[in-house]
Amino acid sequence: MSEGLAGIHRVGLSDAEYERLADLVRKWMGVSLEERNRPMVASRVQKLLRSTGLSSVSAYCDLLERQGDPAAIGRFVDRITTHHTYFYRDADQFEAYRREYLPEILRRIESGGNRDLRVWCAAASTGEEPYTLAIIAQEVLGNAAPQWKTGVLATDISVGVLEQARRGIFAVEPLARLPEAWQQRWFRPLDAERVQAVKALRDEVVFRRFNLLDPLPFKQPFHFIFCRNVLIYFNPAMRREVLSRLRDKLAPGGYLFLGSSESLVPQEYGLERARASVFRRPLHG
Ligand SMILES: C[S@@+](CC[C@H](N)C(=O)[O-])C[C@H]1O[C@@H](n2cnc3c(N)ncnc32)[C@H](O)[C@@H]1O
Repeated sequence: MSEGLAGIHRVGLSDAEYERLADLVRKWMGVSLEERNRPMVASRVQKLLRSTGLSSVSAYCDLLERQGDPAAIGRFVDRITTHHTYFYRDADQFEAYRREYLPEILRRIESGGNRDLRVWCAAASTGEEPYTLAIIAQEVLGNAAPQWKTGVLATDISVGVLEQARRGIFAVEPLARLPEAWQQRWFRPLDAERVQAVKALRDEVVFRRFNLLDPLPFKQPFHFIFCRNVLIYFNPAMRREVLSRLRDKLAPGGYLFLGSSESLVPQEYGLERARASVFRRPLHG
């Protein structure tokens, strides 16, 4: 018996229980749990069991499966998902966005006679990514910003991270990845260790719960979709499905950003490669 399996039996998650939980996770989140995830799931489910007062994993699965208990499902999803993120993750992508793609799209929108920039951050986690996108739009537009609609839509499946993101409170140290001038302008100290995004910045980001496996409810297409470091958790069929839907919600000439370790075959989705892990919908097609 491997080390990992010995660990599983200590926390008491049988094959049948693990399969049942894995089925739920696949169904709700598109995430395929593997054997190596079992110890993590087992220990998190034990904690959830204690908090619900239930005595068995099977009773807990019954609770999750029962119709109309989204709160319990939400707590489960919060515990199982990985929310790891940080400011300016994959800095070269943010730089290309700031210097190249965003100015290009702003010019195109303006030449089309409106000033409505549409940006969607589709796995926003605790907010570092969407707040950075909002800051970049304000900084690039400068004095013209008040004449534009620039709000960033930030979605995530996890209610817990969204609540945290809305507060906009961050530790001082990781913020140092942002330029000093941005830190000064867009964040205020709360105490020696924490800062908070100023209200003007918090107002620029709309946080909503959204499961990427659900049909996209948005009517208008987006100029930019950031869907970084989440597709890696989906199985290939779900990844394809989600990518096709994202592609359909890209405006002509719009850009899709994936995580730096994620990719796709652009032709399969009618996209062009702009740079590693960044894809563009052709202007015509
Ligand atoms: C690793 S974080 C990535 C955060 C950020 N995009 C980045 O690149 O730093 C993945 C996020 O995807 C969210 N997530 C997982 N499955 C999801 C789904 N089916 N729909 C929407 N969000 C999901 C998780 O809650 C988590 O916050």
